[in-house]
Amino acid sequence: MSAAGYRVAVVGATGQVGSLMLRLLKEREFPAREIVPFASARSVGRELEGVGPVQPLTEETIAGFDLALFSAGGSTSGEWAPRFAAAGAVVVDNSSHWRMQADVPLVVSEVNPDALAEHHGIVANPNCSTMQMVVALKPLHDAAGIERLVISTYQAVSGTGRAAVEELLAQSHALLHERAIDPPDSYAHQIAFNALPHAGSFATGEDHTDEERKLINETRKILGDESIRVSATCVRVPVVTGHSEAVNVQTRDPLSAERARELLRAAPGVTVLDDPAAALYPMAIDAAGRDDVLVGRIRRDPGHERALDLWVVADNLHKGAATNAVQLAEVMHERGLIAPSGDRAAA
Ligand SMILES: NC(=O)c1ccc[n+]([C@@H]2O[C@H](COP(=O)([O-])OP(=O)(O)OC[C@H]3O[C@@H](n4cnc5c(N)ncnc54)[C@H](OP(=O)(O)O)[C@@H]3O)[C@@H](O)[C@H]2O)c1
Repeated sequence: MSAAGYRVAVVGATGQVGSLMLRLLKEREFPAREIVPFASARSVGRELEGVGPVQPLTEETIAGFDLALFSAGGSTSGEWAPRFAAAGAVVVDNSSHWRMQADVPLVVSEVNPDALAEHHGIVANPNCSTMQMVVALKPLHDAAGIERLVISTYQAVSGTGRAAVEELLAQSHALLHERAIDPPDSYAHQIAFNALPHAGSFATGEDHTDEERKLINETRKILGDESIRVSATCVRVPVVTGHSEAVNVQTRDPLSAERARELLRAAPGVTVLDDPAAALYPMAIDAAGRDDVLVGRIRRDPGHERALDLWVVADNLHKGAATNAVQLAEVMHERGLIAPSGDRAAA
């Protein structure tokens, strides 16, 4: 950690996303003079390597931060993000709590970084399945204008949290040993050797899951175009890490598959893997641990003259969550959008 630099809080530091954020802040040499981990009362006092003991969230402990990266669920963000912001920090929040609030920018670093300038103390990190998709869609939208999207997702269990990963592994182990599984806890049904058309949850009277609504609403907000029509089915599959998505993209202007491939090859944060004859296409097992978004199976939709089909894969914990949060912190640092507390005291 540098002597000069920001005082950074990581809230949810013991979780999957939070522990990766700690690692990425260090690996990417974010200019932090101190990083302080926060989590629930269960973890207070636990020593985390390189950052010391986990702190509780209290009015006293949250004072004096420049930046706070949150990944501790919506209710914690709802309660504590405004308190960190009021105490002088810029919050980057991973939960869905603030994303659709009009005065909260919802930002993907490669797609709409200029929106960061509009922040009033809280910036929202998009939902993982939306995040990876819009990184791939941005160059196509700029070139030809997106009219309609039809999306099917194949989402990994780590998107639900650490407990869901343990449940998949325990169920798989039990079934492979011909033992009965415990009653499902993370999902409505067994996830091992299954596919659940139920990623997220159904509110009363709702025929879409909240995950599907996030894809619809967040895509429009990030691309800044409320006219885009979006149809989404989100499916949970027994993959530990890496969300895969089949995306049908209907454009306003004609766009060939060849031109789309060129645009995607030049796009920041995208790697094109597209040689189906050689069995080269993105797979979840390849995306795991990577920060980029993999795109392949780029082809014309034979059912519509202005539509293409894509297969988009990324690590939901990396670009889908922690990487983008740290990238947003980096952009805000570069653009002078985080005021170090030393400067505030001098001002
Ligand atoms: N997983 C993904 O792919 C993904 C992608 C995008 C966004 N997100 C969002 O990121 C957040 C965390 O996801 P995750 O997968 O990292 O979950 P996780 O592994 O279950 O970790 C949850 C973290 O939140 C902390 N926490 C829980 N209740 C708390 C409370 N009342 N006060 C303070 N801390 C509390 C936990 O602390 P303890 O260890 O003390 O319980 C833990 O550090 C969620 O909001 C999720 O929606 C996740």
